[in-house]
Amino acid sequence: MKVSVIGTGYVGLVTGTIFAELGHDALCIDSDGRKIDALEAGRIPIYEPGLDALIALNRKAGKLRFGRSIGEAMKHGQVVFICVGTPPLPSGAPDLSAIDAVSREIAKHLTEYRVIVEKSTVPVQTGEKVRVAIAKYAKAGAEFDVVSNPEFLREGSAVQDALNPDRVVVGAESDRARALMLELYEPFRNRTILTDIKSAELIKHASNSFLALKISFINAVANICELSGADVTQVARGMGLDSRIGAAFLNAGIGYGGSCFPKDVDAFVDISSRLGYDFHLLREVQRINQDQRDRFLKKIEAELWVVRGKKIGVWGLSFKPNTDDIRESPAIRICAALRDAGARVSAYDPKGAERAKEVLAGIEFADSAMAAVEGADCLAVCTEWDEFRKADMDKVKAAMAHPTVIDGRNIWDPAEMEKKGFTYRSVGRGAAGGPA
Ligand SMILES: NC(=O)c1ccc[n+]([C@@H]2O[C@H](COP(=O)([O-])OP(=O)(O)OC[C@H]3O[C@@H](n4cnc5c(N)ncnc54)[C@H](O)[C@@H]3O)[C@@H](O)[C@H]2O)c1
Repeated sequence: MKVSVIGTGYVGLVTGTIFAELGHDALCIDSDGRKIDALEAGRIPIYEPGLDALIALNRKAGKLRFGRSIGEAMKHGQVVFICVGTPPLPSGAPDLSAIDAVSREIAKHLTEYRVIVEKSTVPVQTGEKVRVAIAKYAKAGAEFDVVSNPEFLREGSAVQDALNPDRVVVGAESDRARALMLELYEPFRNRTILTDIKSAELIKHASNSFLALKISFINAVANICELSGADVTQVARGMGLDSRIGAAFLNAGIGYGGSCFPKDVDAFVDISSRLGYDFHLLREVQRINQDQRDRFLKKIEAELWVVRGKKIGVWGLSFKPNTDDIRESPAIRICAALRDAGARVSAYDPKGAERAKEVLAGIEFADSAMAAVEGADCLAVCTEWDEFRKADMDKVKAAMAHPTVIDGRNIWDPAEMEKKGFTYRSVGRGAAGGPA
């Protein structure tokens, strides 16, 4: 089937590639010409494990192409996916201007029946707004359907997630659109759920908000562990073995970040309030999340006493491992706060440094994990990359001016770290988690 994707970012590029891999004829377009130039030259503008090989394979097979205009996308695909960004506005509401711009452009090029799919994450009732916008700007009688097909992939394992989804949600309200969507997702037929458009939109916001809630919940429990002397990793294990609860998203740390959870929780709170419901629960989820970073900074201060003038090595800048995405990463805020407090920050990330350089001035970017800790008074761990778990901590200790580790991701065993001679603080693990 011919498929077009508008917006070739983290979601659009993976989506187009996966459709090609499933045997469809995919065209991905983007208004950012540099991105398309790079892709056409065989360079992948994002880091996502396994994606480069899959793109190369499908381009070679002639199943994946790139383009620059919505006109091309409309001409090519029977089904046209909107995968543009919906970043947060200062109010917490998502900025839907790219969705609006794309809808109007789609309307201009609507010459035969098309299924227009919202894959971008949008508030409930956006599908109706997209439908009205297209109808308003299209020629009278133009035929189209709007469908909601939210994306659940996780950066860092996006290819695997997209090739093996837990579920495919299709919110559609005409048989014609439903049939095309089912054909497109044929390999996942037994995992596809059909809903109305509004319910599909809500499934996405409710799912991400629930996962964020789980993270804030375990972080709140971690704080009780620190105050009581319990160990949050043991508590989480005991909770997670209950099949009604599940073990995922019960890792205490410095809070969630990324381009989805913070913005989606904000957007869900915002749309709920516009609809007349105050989602107190989610506002508390956000508050706990922010608090978690402040607690981490306080742990660093408690160990260093005065931060000004000290060298702090920071491991991890991306919001989670296996991605170069630093959007809303707690690490970025932590680096900025330490810099503002007068620390000499030396940060290292295996993939996220280039993007971090664009938003973080006044800190050093080290070439390696070891370089970041050379002569450091403290090591702050913000992202749980495997490379850090495997680091030779004896060498790290020898390189540091003072062997103090503040671990925001609980990647080492407190007893072993103390045995090696580190002053070690982590999150929610009794004395090792608590304030000095
Ligand atoms: N990143 C994720 O893990 C993830 C997961 C699920 C859902 N989502 C949702 O998917 C959407 C896209 O997220 P992303 O992370 O891929 O964003 P992104 O910023 O990486 O990509 C968006 C792309 O859209 C392009 N674009 C913007 N306006 C355009 C226009 N008028 N015409 C053509 N292209 C245009 C941009 O140049 C950019 O390349 C968002 O709504 C996000 O919430 C993201």
